[in-house]
Amino acid sequence: MSILSILFINLCMILSIFSNNSEAKTFSFKETTIDDIQIAFKQNKLTSRQLVEYYLGEIQKANPILKGIIEVNPDALFLADKADQEQKSGALLSSRLHGIPVLVKDNIATKDKLNTTAGSLALVGSIVPQDAGVVKKLRKAGAIILGKATMTEWAAFRSGILPSGWNGRLGQALNPYVASADPSGSSTGSATSVAANLAAVALGTETAGSILSPSNANSVVGIKPTVGLTSRAGVIPISHRQDTVGPICRTVSDAVEVLDVIVGFDRDDFPATKKASTYIPHGGYRQFLKADGLKDKRLGILKDLFGSNDIKAYQHHFNTLRQKGAVLVDNLEIPNIDLVYTAIVNAQDIALVAEFKMDLNAYLKKLVHTRVRSLADVIAFNKISVSEKFKEYGQDIMVTAEKTNGIGKLEREALSNITKVCKYGFEKMMKVNKLDALLSPGADIASLLAIGGYPGINVPAGYDKSGVPFGISFGGLKGSEPTLIEIAYGFEQATHIRKPPPSHPR
Ligand SMILES: *[C@@H]1O[C@H](CO)[C@@H](O)[C@H](O)[C@H]1NC(C)=O
Ligand SMILES: *[C@@H]1O[C@H](CO)[C@@H](O)[C@H](O)[C@H]1NC(C)=O
Repeated sequence: MSILSILFINLCMILSIFSNNSEAKTFSFKETTIDDIQIAFKQNKLTSRQLVEYYLGEIQKANPILKGIIEVNPDALFLADKADQEQKSGALLSSRLHGIPVLVKDNIATKDKLNTTAGSLALVGSIVPQDAGVVKKLRKAGAIILGKATMTEWAAFRSGILPSGWNGRLGQALNPYVASADPSGSSTGSATSVAANLAAVALGTETAGSILSPSNANSVVGIKPTVGLTSRAGVIPISHRQDTVGPICRTVSDAVEVLDVIVGFDRDDFPATKKASTYIPHGGYRQFLKADGLKDKRLGILKDLFGSNDIKAYQHHFNTLRQKGAVLVDNLEIPNIDLVYTAIVNAQDIALVAEFKMDLNAYLKKLVHTRVRSLADVIAFNKISVSEKFKEYGQDIMVTAEKTNGIGKLEREALSNITKVCKYGFEKMMKVNKLDALLSPGADIASLLAIGGYPGINVPAGYDKSGVPFGISFGGLKGSEPTLIEIAYGFEQATHIRKPPPSHPR
């Protein structure tokens, strides 16, 4: 072969590399979306194994500092290979989550090598009877359980002074943006790990702020679905009346893709999932990812909710919302606000502690193997396995809950107060003002949404001077997810604020 022809061959090779690159951009792992991943799968530019290997590598690097992941699934690579095989044979190709690594909060049961502990040493080594309802749906869709996300122990229901993101098993999780900032909770690891690109998507759970608040603190999107829209079967509970499982992701569209898979009827969470399944739109939630989603939406702003500290940062967003066609209804007051407030601080607590004892005892009784069968057993276990940190944080909520005795006269009165203030407070305000959603800085409306089982979405909205993220939340009436998704997506597309955290938290 002449020198010239060798040169020519090399030139062709170089040219072909260039042309390949310009035809389809190479896959970028960081900040990738389900959409990017599915396209790369279809074009044979990426395998599920490569994706899982990437996340395992990132976890190895970052998790010793961030402590967002309490356990990695030892079978993750095996499951990825299986997904790749299925991809090749064309099975399950209609599922958007096929081959996608999902991190689930440590209170969501998985019947595999992973423990399900709510961050508690008391549940290490226990055996769950089956996958949680939402995990069954994930597996059926071909998703890969990558691991368990750390959380505030017992979803903050051990003690009133437990720091967010702390548990007895892993210690303190960090906010990946600013180490000294509150990482929030209780779905701490779901939010911090997705923010830091340690997983594609994650699941969190919320009873009163536990999805919206950590999403807000870690610059990710959290959807807190209407209670019952997603199954709570196999989720370590606080209250069947308020608990809900939802996605925590980097983008609204990823969160919506996960939502589409996990919603729906589950015979093990009956009748709640049956009732709420009437809210699920024909054709699912993706159709509401509309670029002009803000057009003609009536968004309520409560008087005094956006305090003077916040107003500057959010004023800019109010302008954007208006420019995109939304109508802002300002200076709203919730009718009977004093009663609403009392219900949130008093009645809710009375109801939750009683429900926690009943619901947790029922969960623990169903375990195949465990050293704790009741809340009383957990309290006793905590006392003997006492550590320094334990002494500091205590278990006062558990002790208070243990003293309750089901739903008696006081609890019935509390529940009836909650029902009334929801109907004549939030719901009345939404209806009288014909609102599509209520806006709030951060996750400030979480308690209001919690007591009524209403849905909400948090979207990244900025970073303060020290680089600490903050978001904006949109809340609405039961079943209003389609409208909330339109609004959240419209806001996200108009602002594109999210950026990944630095490689080490500041
Ligand atoms: C689950 O807990 C047991 C301790 O009982 C431990 O040996 C095991 O490694 C844990 N599983 C994972 C995946 O970390
Ligand atoms: C219920 O609300 C009434 C006021 O309407 C209040 O006096 C009472 O203490 C409340 N009860 C509970 C248990 O929250």
